[in-house]
Amino acid sequence: MANKCVVTGGGGFIGSYLIRTLVRDGWDVTCIDNMTRGDQSRFADVADNVTLWRSDIRDADNITQACVGAEVVFHLAAVNGTENFYTQPELVLDVGLRGALSVVEACRRANVPDLVVASSAEVYQTPVVVPTDESVPLLLPDSLNPRYSYGGSKIVSELIAFNYARDHFRKVQVFRPHNVYGPNMGWKHVVPQFVLRALDCAERQDPHFAIQGDGSETRAFAYVDDVVDGILTMYTRGTHREVYHIGNDEEVSIAHLARITGALVEQELTIVGGEGAVGGTPRRCPDIQKMRRLGYNPTISLEEGLRRTVSWYKANRDMTHENALM
Ligand SMILES: NC(=O)c1ccc[n+]([C@@H]2O[C@H](COP(=O)([O-])OP(=O)(O)OC[C@H]3O[C@@H](n4cnc5c(N)ncnc54)[C@H](O)[C@@H]3O)[C@@H](O)[C@H]2O)c1
Repeated sequence: MANKCVVTGGGGFIGSYLIRTLVRDGWDVTCIDNMTRGDQSRFADVADNVTLWRSDIRDADNITQACVGAEVVFHLAAVNGTENFYTQPELVLDVGLRGALSVVEACRRANVPDLVVASSAEVYQTPVVVPTDESVPLLLPDSLNPRYSYGGSKIVSELIAFNYARDHFRKVQVFRPHNVYGPNMGWKHVVPQFVLRALDCAERQDPHFAIQGDGSETRAFAYVDDVVDGILTMYTRGTHREVYHIGNDEEVSIAHLARITGALVEQELTIVGGEGAVGGTPRRCPDIQKMRRLGYNPTISLEEGLRRTVSWYKANRDMTHENALM
């Protein structure tokens, strides 16, 4: 019989790609998701091999049942989407904190030996060293800024995973993904927003492309297939009570991202800088040596990943999405 695993947030962007790979690798997969930002159509091609457990992650009694017999829980459920951090900070915190407690509780009660928790690059906010390795101190600059509801919830989730789960598990791991992108990633992230707006520019033949900040801010974007490969490499070869960065270490400016996006929709863009987002960070790029030592090696270039992403959003731009949080 196949080994059972649970993916919380499996109707979400990264979770659905992870589910597809786990099914392909022969796992018996259970997805826990309340679908507030998810959609089971994301893993429609493997749905016959997935048990869908539609539940709020904060309902420990309910999700305990879903976890019975599992070898590992991959905890990805969260309220993601930068816009939501500003507009729904209470929900972001509630799902982040209570969700983490509930997952640990469910794993303990159901005797699940392994727990893998998704954190975020946002735990560093403005990292004191770039490229940033896993030992750089975590930072929460201002509890009055709602944006940090998300980074704060991830810091606490890490603490819950490593402390509440101290004596009960064979393996507890935290990964900090850095700017993951790809087809069907939702609508409230920089990459899909750039793609849709660049398509508009191309249609109107208007090169003016407004951005937040002056375009010199940097990020390192990781294609979702590489990220799933990273999560599974970490789980298979990484060790107990460790944190790993999963991302790409090719740091690019936001202006560069806009220009490549423009080139892919065949519209040269004139970047128009504006105010930066309050609480945004000027540079972000992970040091991924710790993962490289496990054999991880991201292979999809930004151009290739964006080509695939642009093509998906071009084909699906009229898709109606009822989930206000997506
Ligand atoms: N996408 C990125 O670039 C990125 C970067 C850093 C960290 N992460 C983290 O990785 C994980 C996956 O990210 P994603 O981009 O796939 O996010 P996503 O929003 O696409 O997926 C999260 C899923 O969690 C579900 N969910 C939300 N609240 C829930 C609740 N109360 N109960 C049950 N399910 C609930 C949503 O319906 C959604 O399907 C998240 O923990 C996120 O914080 C993502």
